[in-house]
Amino acid sequence: MNTLIKNINEVLTLEAARKKDGRNIQPEDSSIKKYVSLIHNDKKILWIGRLSEIPAEYSIDKEIDLEGHVMTPEIVDSHTHLVFGGDRSFEYTLRLNGADYQEIANAGGGILSSMEKTKAASESELFDKGVERVLRLKSYGVGTIEIKSGYGLTLESERKLTHVISRLKDHFKDSIQIKNTFMAAHAVPKSFDSSKRYLEEIVFPLFKEFAKEGVIDFVDVFHEEGYFSLEDCENLINLARELKIPFKMHADEFNDNGGAKFAATNGAISADHLLAASNDGINALAKSDTVATLLPGTAFFLGKPLPNARKMLDAGCKVALASDYNPGSCHCDNLLLIASIAAKNLGLNFTELWSSITLNAAAALMLENQGSIEVGMKPRFSIFECESLDQITYSWGRNFSK
Ligand code: NIG
Ligand code: FE
Repeated sequence: MNTLIKNINEVLTLEAARKKDGRNIQPEDSSIKKYVSLIHNDKKILWIGRLSEIPAEYSIDKEIDLEGHVMTPEIVDSHTHLVFGGDRSFEYTLRLNGADYQEIANAGGGILSSMEKTKAASESELFDKGVERVLRLKSYGVGTIEIKSGYGLTLESERKLTHVISRLKDHFKDSIQIKNTFMAAHAVPKSFDSSKRYLEEIVFPLFKEFAKEGVIDFVDVFHEEGYFSLEDCENLINLARELKIPFKMHADEFNDNGGAKFAATNGAISADHLLAASNDGINALAKSDTVATLLPGTAFFLGKPLPNARKMLDAGCKVALASDYNPGSCHCDNLLLIASIAAKNLGLNFTELWSSITLNAAAALMLENQGSIEVGMKPRFSIFECESLDQITYSWGRNFSK
């Protein structure tokens, strides 16, 4: 079935940014097309041009008039932890009153407190909350969402989470693309005396089980002091290679632990956070295909300095931005809002901003033929009801999504 989308005020194609593999992007690499129309079928974009010049070979089954609208490649939120029980609103208040992330975790808050609330929630409660949250992201124009497990941390509770994410993936399959990331290596429950023992008894058996069932797309780990060491990451990555599941990593979030370099030299699909990444780590990322995924909402939420995005971009890293939506370190689910506020502070130009939440975010999830609007690419777009692209990122937090 061929659909004609006509009279679009502006299309952010990102054609030139895609040709540069999402690196060293200049403002003009936005490759914006004005007042154009396009034809696509279910699988790909067939034609882009002036309405008066549609080639006769295309029969049109459906027409959509987008006068007064702009179109971008689909917004992808490539890093969320959106399935969790309860909330941790009290922690934000504690933080405003002076406590920091580690202090709150040591005092019984943090990931382990979400673990208790997630354990107490039934599968159907978690699913219903998940549906509500996915729909909220969708309402902002996000079309692909990655969701990590990791608030279960027992065999039974992690099974429940991965199952909920699978059900969300299935439930939304015709409207939103969901990627299921296994992240039981998120924190070490108190009942384990070491991260190694927790990995061996809980994480590895579940990882093998889910890989065999074919239900997970990625595996992720929180590499940080007091969480999982480089040796733990190495053991996890070895198993990931055996199971043929691509590997992601929470790297250098609070301290420079050599996470960025480890991720880049071990073929991680993405290294995420990077607030404290060293020059060495940044240079290793620049030489690799590992996407540097920045989560500025988390830095804002925790009151930490922003990552050195400009250094990463100038070194040639492929930079993505994601929300990190979770109950503890960023309870903001609006990626476009985060990106609009963060871009200027991170030193991103307009095209870097948009590439980071579309083209490069798609690369962080290994999505093929997605992230630019060109003939042959998948027909995955975000559409906004406004006259120009400028208005979207200029109007912080206003929702123009259609
Ligand atoms: O990405 N860094 C680890 N995990 C989450 C935070 C989890 C939490 O505090 O609940 C993150 O920031
Ligand atoms: Fe995270």
